[in-house]
Amino acid sequence: MEPTKGLASPLDQLSAHETKGLLRFLTCGSVDDGKSTLIGRLLYDTKLLFEDQLATLESDSRKHGTTGEDLDFALLVDGLAAEREQGITIDVAYRFFATEKRKFIVADTPGHEQYTRNMATGASNSDLAVILIDARKGILTQTRRHSYIAALLGIHHVVLAVNKIDLADFSQAVFDEIVAAYRAFAKDFGFKTLVAIPLSARFGDNVLTPSARTPWYTGPALLEHLEQVEVVSAAAGRPFRMPVQWVNRPNLDFRGFSGTVASGTVRAGDEVVIASSGVTTRVKSIVTADGDLAEAVAGEAVTLTLADEVDASRGDVIAAAAARPEFSDQFAAHLIWMHDEPLLPGRSYLIKIGTRTVGASVTEIKHKVDVNTFQHLAAKTLALNEVAVVNFSTQAPVAFDPFGAVPQTGAFIVIDRMSNLTVGAGMIDFGLRRATNVHWQALEVTKDSRAALKAQKPVVLWFTGLSGAGKSTIANIVEKKLHVLGRHTTMLDGDNVRHGLNRDLGFTEADRVENIRRVAEVSRLFVDAGLIVLVSFISPFRAERRMARELMGPGEFVEIFVDTPLAVAESRDVKGLYKRARAGEIRNFTGIDSPYESPEAAEITLLGGTKDPEALADEVIRYLQASGHI
Ligand code: ADX
Repeated sequence: MEPTKGLASPLDQLSAHETKGLLRFLTCGSVDDGKSTLIGRLLYDTKLLFEDQLATLESDSRKHGTTGEDLDFALLVDGLAAEREQGITIDVAYRFFATEKRKFIVADTPGHEQYTRNMATGASNSDLAVILIDARKGILTQTRRHSYIAALLGIHHVVLAVNKIDLADFSQAVFDEIVAAYRAFAKDFGFKTLVAIPLSARFGDNVLTPSARTPWYTGPALLEHLEQVEVVSAAAGRPFRMPVQWVNRPNLDFRGFSGTVASGTVRAGDEVVIASSGVTTRVKSIVTADGDLAEAVAGEAVTLTLADEVDASRGDVIAAAAARPEFSDQFAAHLIWMHDEPLLPGRSYLIKIGTRTVGASVTEIKHKVDVNTFQHLAAKTLALNEVAVVNFSTQAPVAFDPFGAVPQTGAFIVIDRMSNLTVGAGMIDFGLRRATNVHWQALEVTKDSRAALKAQKPVVLWFTGLSGAGKSTIANIVEKKLHVLGRHTTMLDGDNVRHGLNRDLGFTEADRVENIRRVAEVSRLFVDAGLIVLVSFISPFRAERRMARELMGPGEFVEIFVDTPLAVAESRDVKGLYKRARAGEIRNFTGIDSPYESPEAAEITLLGGTKDPEALADEVIRYLQASGHI
């Protein structure tokens, strides 16, 4: 999933008018439950396959198939080469088919444990979920996880497809038992319809038409149900929201705000508000390539012109003035974590909500949820596929709604700043007021005036490197030299700060992130005081060093990489810690069983293994002189 796409897909751009008679659904299940076979069967039996696709299918079935002489429907769907090799589906594939009664878009989402994120992507665009269960295996953790995520993402209609019923002797008892267990599990999910169907995707029982082999089943066949189920989209009835994609200003006489209506309806003359400023105005016109409209509904891409000259830019939300979104920099949310690397509270990620992308971090994991029992569990980090209730804090206020009220402006994705990968999906529960009630105190004595009194430029000298690299030794000498030069300095040293402010923190990744977050915040306060701040921490992660850098103003952060080879640091072993780490007495030791990510663009690199500390300190002083810091 590309971060730029967010949870939305081009399918979202179908307008409400176009979506009449259209059902968007997704299939989910574990590997081998027969999803692909089922979709293949639907496509094949509804005769919407093109002849050439059929020919390919017949030849592929003989080559790769697992069903002997029969057509292997899974091959039809599993278009991706990698998937054929691994026997798993690895991305969301949208397929189209139609009957006389309805058109269908099906999101085929993978069952493999790793690919929850694709499932969530598919679910975010769907009206209904077909949850596949292998009749022989019954309900699995995956089934529960997928159901939970479907419910979280606001899917109200579920089909429980109890597949491979032929391999369970078409047994009603088996079916009934699975259905009863599932209903008990899903009773609080608020599904408006939950229809269970015994079927055999491979042989077609109860797929298009009722099967004579399950005479005890009196409900509809799958396709019949999909044709009939009513899934009126509520989006048009919700309050009007349009995230601004761009400001359309072709000449001085025209200024319009372009975007896709995310929810509700907008009419010319409606009173609207710009969420970020609270400024209200009226809609003058709704412009499209095909002429002006009297109204636009959710899903339509339009350009709005407004009665007054108001400020709004990309990322802003234009909303109904009578039903405003929240605008805050803190909120509580449900979060699905989708990455191999754990979520670390305090680490800075990007979130994308609507058209807005902003830096954000989790300030607290309130609890994670066991998807099997719904138990709330304490957690310090989140692993792949885990779901939790968390508090988020964003770098700047954003407009949003609780997901339950307006899903389109209540859902967001989390993007890793280093890799640019989508690593999480969130649903906002509510905004947190505490931040909005605390305002910045305007101060009359400023950073500049404090610095001017000291006749210096405040700066952070951030020393990073392995334990025993020589960071503190060099930093000490640098501070002495600055002192002699009459500069006002202070020193934050890892070992010392860990005895006071950070005495509650250990050496797990999560604790190191928090360690550096606090030190970066304290450094900023010292920079505000006009000081030259020497920071000496291993600070092993790029993400947190970058976060520290971003907290400071331009030129106020100088990263100094004390690049001493591990072998040299280890041979010095001043504190005897390497020896103990090698002996397994200390865990998570940097360079031994915990990573160190070298800086990619440090302002200064000091070769700690080659020169003596005095000479290295001189290099720092020379840099500060050359760059005009001192
Ligand atoms: S950081 O990784 O969170 O930045 P920090 O600089 O605060 O580390 O603390 C590192 C110091 O703690 C080391 O110099 C060393 O003396 C001590 N220490 C104790 N245990 C560990 C460990 N597991 N890994 C690294 N340093 C450790």
